[in-house]
Amino acid sequence: MYTLNSRIRDIYAHPLGHDMLDRILYAAGVPRTLLKNPIVGSMRLSWLETIASGKLDTTFFQSFIDLLNMHPEKPGRGDGPVKHAWWKEAVFYQIYPRSFCDSDGDGIGDLKGILSKLDYLKSLGVDALWLSPVYDSPNDDNGYDIRDYEKIMAEFGTMEDFEELLAGVHERGMRLIMDLVVNHTSDEHPWFQEGLHDPTSKYRGYYFFRNPDQTNNWTSFFSGPAWNTYEEQNVSALHLFSKKQMDFNWDNPDVRDDVIGMVNRWLDRGVDGFRMDVINYISKVPGLPEGSEGIAELIGFKGIEHYFYGPKLHEYLHEIHERAFAPHNAFSVGECPGVGLMTGRLVTGEERKELDMIFSFDHLDVPGHVRYDDYAFDLRYYRDYITDWMENYGNNCWMSLFYNNHDNPRMSSKVRPDGSYIRRVQKLLLVMQMTLKGTPFLFQGDEMGLANYSFTSMDEITDVEAHGYHKELLEKGKTPEEAFSIILSGTREHARVPLPWNRESMKESVLQMTPAERAEKHITAFLDQKESEEIRTACRRLIALRKEYSTLIYGDFHRLMGRGYEESGYGFAYERRSDEAVFRVECNLGEKTIPAYRSKENGRWHLVYGTLRNRKAEELGPFEARIWKKEQ
Ligand code: GLC
Repeated sequence: MYTLNSRIRDIYAHPLGHDMLDRILYAAGVPRTLLKNPIVGSMRLSWLETIASGKLDTTFFQSFIDLLNMHPEKPGRGDGPVKHAWWKEAVFYQIYPRSFCDSDGDGIGDLKGILSKLDYLKSLGVDALWLSPVYDSPNDDNGYDIRDYEKIMAEFGTMEDFEELLAGVHERGMRLIMDLVVNHTSDEHPWFQEGLHDPTSKYRGYYFFRNPDQTNNWTSFFSGPAWNTYEEQNVSALHLFSKKQMDFNWDNPDVRDDVIGMVNRWLDRGVDGFRMDVINYISKVPGLPEGSEGIAELIGFKGIEHYFYGPKLHEYLHEIHERAFAPHNAFSVGECPGVGLMTGRLVTGEERKELDMIFSFDHLDVPGHVRYDDYAFDLRYYRDYITDWMENYGNNCWMSLFYNNHDNPRMSSKVRPDGSYIRRVQKLLLVMQMTLKGTPFLFQGDEMGLANYSFTSMDEITDVEAHGYHKELLEKGKTPEEAFSIILSGTREHARVPLPWNRESMKESVLQMTPAERAEKHITAFLDQKESEEIRTACRRLIALRKEYSTLIYGDFHRLMGRGYEESGYGFAYERRSDEAVFRVECNLGEKTIPAYRSKENGRWHLVYGTLRNRKAEELGPFEARIWKKEQ
């Protein structure tokens, strides 16, 4: 049993203790390596207070200890050979349907639009598509608020269109995974409506309904309290996201039966798997205890310790796996914010039969920063973070590799907020994504070199999260200019700008409020520049290379140190090795020229790809990357 007197060392040896300590240091902006220091290791848990500048309170420490004692599981050793699987070899491409491709000129992307681009995606080398939600929804959160899981959103098309798309994907030898949003439904879902209006209905138990004076202090990810009160019915209901996204009560077996039934019907229809939205939030601590004020101050959300790794998470993931995924041999990737390296090994360990892979997010901001901060992302943090995962994740687990998705500003803009060297950074990211160990997930537009969009006012932003946060900032006393500038740094809208296939697709964009000349500017930046084509060529070439050599998929990863390539330097060099081949990748993660890693061994290596042409072998220019193959 862990107690408040346990030592940091012992807590760090517990998978959840490891990840929570890492997370707290990350939020506090302190390097995690500190935890490996023997003196720190011998300290008691309360030492964390010092790190968190007095923010952590007794409620926090108590729930931390309770969580550790609730989760005695240990990850498998993971020292056997890596098992082969199609999803380890595939390159995935995420489509955000609303802004991908509009076939009927209503300004909203649709299924026929996606169908029209399948040959294009195939020619890039993409093997599998992940579709963000396409189900019927009132679109409070662009489809992440589902009203009917078995109907297609009218703006996107019909079930026939979907079936044609699925067949088109399969005909081309590709696969398709859907988005599974089952932590919550829309408040317009008939189950919620029935539960709300009829206290005796079985659906009352599908959600968390409470008397308005018996809610808790949890906050929503989209600002404000996590409870919405329905005056007429005199009842409140829990929503971790918007007021229209009502949390399911997964402890109710009928919820699990209905969700699993729905998943099975989609799998029967032929989809190849699911990306599972915030799936680690589905199990909440019974009774929904009050959240710690301290952790809220540190992490930003109140109550999170009671559901980011809930008591029955493993049980429910295993149940979905056994009752739906396993019988269909389907693939799963779980979106798991806050799940770290060790707990990640617990949910993805192949012997545990829960998830195939996860998306975790602590590589997208450097310690001490959050998405809405205006700062330049230091790629050295990513290098050390990803190295740690690749070295310690175990051969029984497999990683996802991504920099962008629909919830984040574009990574290249985060690295270069002033836009300088942005093409080089985009190519560098692609090199790492296609040569590190794991499955690459491209986000739409990555292959076009899309960067952040220069929004000029809140009127151009549609996202519910951004509007909630903007309001909160004004309430906290920020001026409208200050508030907008914070939104501009972190808004998800950057990733949701329609793809610039042609001039029309920009002008008739979903951003109806964007003035035409601004759209025009966007096209000029991304459509007419030859660099955009250059990124596409780089993308094709790198995907092809990854497919040509299984070493780049299954080969061992070895980080190379020394020569300015250690922690403090901007160099990142590594090898991928197998019996088939040895590749050496050398990257410059900064804007100063550095010596190339391999300079002394020119004769034995053959250059297979470089992000810049005609460069000196002995040095790497700003953000340059090269891939060498050892002569056999
Ligand atoms: C996930 C989705 C995000 C959505 C939220 C609520 O984080 O990726 O877009 O807003 O869940 O469903």
